[in-house]
Amino acid sequence: MRQVLNINTDWQFTPRDEPLAQFEGAKLEFERVSLPHSNMLLPHNNFSETEYCFVSWYRRDIFVPLENMGQRVFVDFDGVMIAAQVFVNGVAVEGEHRGGFTPFSRDITEFVRFGAVNLLSVRVDSTERADIPPFGGLVDYLCFGGIYRDVFLRFSDHVFVDNMATLTGQILESEKSLVVNARVVNTNSAPATMTAQANLYDTDTLIASQKIQITLEPGCDTAAYFQFQHLNVSLWELEHPKLYKLEVQLQNGDALSTQVGFRSAEFREDGAFYLNGKALKLRGLNRHQSFPYIGMAAPARLQRKDAEIIKFDLACNIVRTSHYPQSPHFLNHCDEVGLLVLEEIPGWQHIGDTAWQEVSKLELRAMIERDRNHPSIIMWGVRINESPDDHDFYSATNQLAHELDPSRATGGIRCFHGSELLEDVYTMNDFQYDLGTPDAKKYLVTEYGGHMYPTKTFDQEERVVKHMLHHAHILEQVYSMPIFGGIGWSAFDYNTHAQFGSGDRICYHGVMDIFRQPKLIAALYASQLEVSERVVLEPMTYWTRGDLDEGRISPLWICSNCDRVDVLVDGINLGAARRLERFSHLLNPPFVMDHIPGGWGQHFGELEVLGYSGGVLVERKKIAADGVPVKLEAQLDDDQINADGADMTRLSLQATDQYGNIQPFAFDVVNLEVSGPAVIVGPNPVALIGGRVSVFVKATTDAGTIRIRAKTARLAAKPLTLHSAALEEIRLLELSR
Ligand code: GAL
Repeated sequence: MRQVLNINTDWQFTPRDEPLAQFEGAKLEFERVSLPHSNMLLPHNNFSETEYCFVSWYRRDIFVPLENMGQRVFVDFDGVMIAAQVFVNGVAVEGEHRGGFTPFSRDITEFVRFGAVNLLSVRVDSTERADIPPFGGLVDYLCFGGIYRDVFLRFSDHVFVDNMATLTGQILESEKSLVVNARVVNTNSAPATMTAQANLYDTDTLIASQKIQITLEPGCDTAAYFQFQHLNVSLWELEHPKLYKLEVQLQNGDALSTQVGFRSAEFREDGAFYLNGKALKLRGLNRHQSFPYIGMAAPARLQRKDAEIIKFDLACNIVRTSHYPQSPHFLNHCDEVGLLVLEEIPGWQHIGDTAWQEVSKLELRAMIERDRNHPSIIMWGVRINESPDDHDFYSATNQLAHELDPSRATGGIRCFHGSELLEDVYTMNDFQYDLGTPDAKKYLVTEYGGHMYPTKTFDQEERVVKHMLHHAHILEQVYSMPIFGGIGWSAFDYNTHAQFGSGDRICYHGVMDIFRQPKLIAALYASQLEVSERVVLEPMTYWTRGDLDEGRISPLWICSNCDRVDVLVDGINLGAARRLERFSHLLNPPFVMDHIPGGWGQHFGELEVLGYSGGVLVERKKIAADGVPVKLEAQLDDDQINADGADMTRLSLQATDQYGNIQPFAFDVVNLEVSGPAVIVGPNPVALIGGRVSVFVKATTDAGTIRIRAKTARLAAKPLTLHSAALEEIRLLELSR
C-alpha cells in the first residue's frame, strides 16, 4: 500500500545559515512554523529583495513506523525557493536541488531508522543565484524564499507508479477514447512481474477498467500502457468542466491517481483556437503567484481563490502562469472552474550558460511531467519569456515538450517581430497601442498593457479611465484580428526589483491591486460576460465636483453588459448613454455620456445609473455626491479555515459611501482586534490605501472560533466570525495524490 502523509505542520525554522541544524540536539533557536512558509514576512511595498535573500534551515521530526520496514520512504517537495539540500539524521541525501518552481523527491529509505523518530532537515538557499533560472540578469518579479509549498512523506512498495500521462481522443464522437501511459519503477535488485490495472471513475463510480501484465527488470522502469475505447463520458467544457478520476493500481497495492478531462484544444491555421471543435477567442490575463506580506507562500485556499477571481470576477477564459510553473492547487482549480492555462518555464529575458540551460530543461521536463494531465492547460511556453532567439536551446526545449506531451501545442513568448518560429504558435508580447501585424498564421498575443499604463487604485480619475480605454482599444483589435486571442498584463499588481515598478517595488500593472481588490478597469473585463451570467454595471468615476481637470464631470464612462444604460443626476434622468461604436467587436463595448450639465462651483447631486436588458430594468447603481465615508466594510473570503498553522483567508477592508462605493481618497487607519486561535498577517493597525486594503487572517494550530472587529477613529465595521477546523481532521486525512 502507498501512504502519502502531509507533513506541513511542526517544522522548526531558523532564518540563519546554521549547518548544525541538521544534527539532533544542536543548541539552536528555532521558530515553530507550518508550511507553506515564507522565510520573511514583508510589508506590501517599499522593501528590497535583500531582506529575504538569505540561507535558512528548516527541520522536522519524522516518525517512520516499524511496520513500514521493507517499504521505500520518500519526501516529496512541491516547491522550495530556490535551492535545497536535504539531510536525514545529519547525512546529506543526494545533491542540491536547483529550481524553485517545480517539485522534487528524495528517496530517504537508506537514511532512516525504522521504528524511530528521524530528523529531516533542509538547507534552503533563497538568494538570487545566477546559476538558476530566472536569475543571472534583471528580472521584473520577485521570487521570495522558503519552503513555500506542501511537503509529503510517502511510503511505497519497491515497485511503484512514478508518473503517468493521459491522452484523450475521439473527442467529438459520442464514444471517446483514453490512452494511459504510466511509468512503473522497480527499485528492487530482482525482476518483478505483476498486474497493473487502470480504473476510470466518475466521482466514486467505476466506469471503465483494464488489467495488464507488466514485467520489470531489476532497478529499471517500464511503461504500463492502457487503451480505453468506447467511453461514454462527458466533455470538459468551460461552462461544465467535467472531471473524471483515473487510477493506476499495481498488484502490490501501490496506486497513483490523477484528474482527467475529455477535451480537444486546437490552434488551427485559420487563426482561430478551437475548444472541443468550437471556435473560442482567448481572452485572458497574466498572473504572478505572489501576494502581499507572504511572497509566494500562499496556501491552497488563496491559490484556488485566484483561479475563481480570474474566471468569475474578471471573466477571463485563459490565464498565463507568467513566468514559471505555478501552484498545483491553482492549476487543479483551473481544471475545476474551467479556466484555460498557458504554462511556461521560469525565466525573464536572460539566457544563461550551458549549465543554466540544463537546469532550465530539467524544469521544463518537471513542469510537463507534473502537469500534463490538466485539461485546463492548452499550451506549453518553452522559451524564456522575452529572450533573444537561440536556435539550439529552443529547438531542444520544443522537441522535449513534444516528446513528453505530443498532445499540446508549444509557444515561446517573445517580444519582437521576425523571430525564428520553432514552436507551434507564434506567441508575442505586443505593447504597442496598435497591435503589430501577426508574424504567423498561428499567432497569440501573450501580453499587452502593463508598463505602458501603470495605474493605481487611487490615481486621478482621468488616468483610471484612460487605463480602461487603453485595454478596451487592445481588446477591440484582439477581437477583430484573425489571431487566437490576447492575454493582458496583468491580473494583479505585483512586487518587483528596483529597476522596475513605481519606486515602491510594485508594478501597478494589474486589473486588480496587489490585494486582489478590483480597480475600475476590472469592470471592463467583467462586462464581457453575458448579462444572463451576471449583470455588470459600473460607472468609471469617483463622482467628485472638482477632481477632474477644469471642474468637469463628463464625459462619464460606464462599463456594462446591459443593452441600455440611463444616467440620472440629482434624480433627473438625462437619458441613455451611448455605446462606444469604435469598440464594436467587443461583446459589450463601454457606454459614454458625453455631456452632463454643471461645472465648477455649481450645484452637485448624486449619480444614479440604470441598467436595462431587453427593456427590463436589471440593475441600478448610485454614487453619493458628498465624499464622506459613512461605512467601514469588513469582509472575509471564507467562513472556515483549517487549524494547521498556515491556512489563511483574506480580510478586506473598505471605507465606502452609503451605497457601498469605495472612497478613493480615504487613508484612515484601521485597528483590528482578533480573539481566538488566529493571527493577522499584515500590519495592525493597517492604513487604507485609496479607501481599501486587505490583510490575511491566519489559523494557529488550535481549533475554535475567531472573532474580528475592525474600526477607524470614526467608523466601526460589523463584527465578523470565522471558524477554524480541528487539525486532527486534516492530519488523519490520508492524502492520495
Ligand atoms: C513585459 C514582461 C513582463 C512585465 C511586463 C510589464 O515585457 O514580459 O514580465 O515586465 O513587460 O509591462
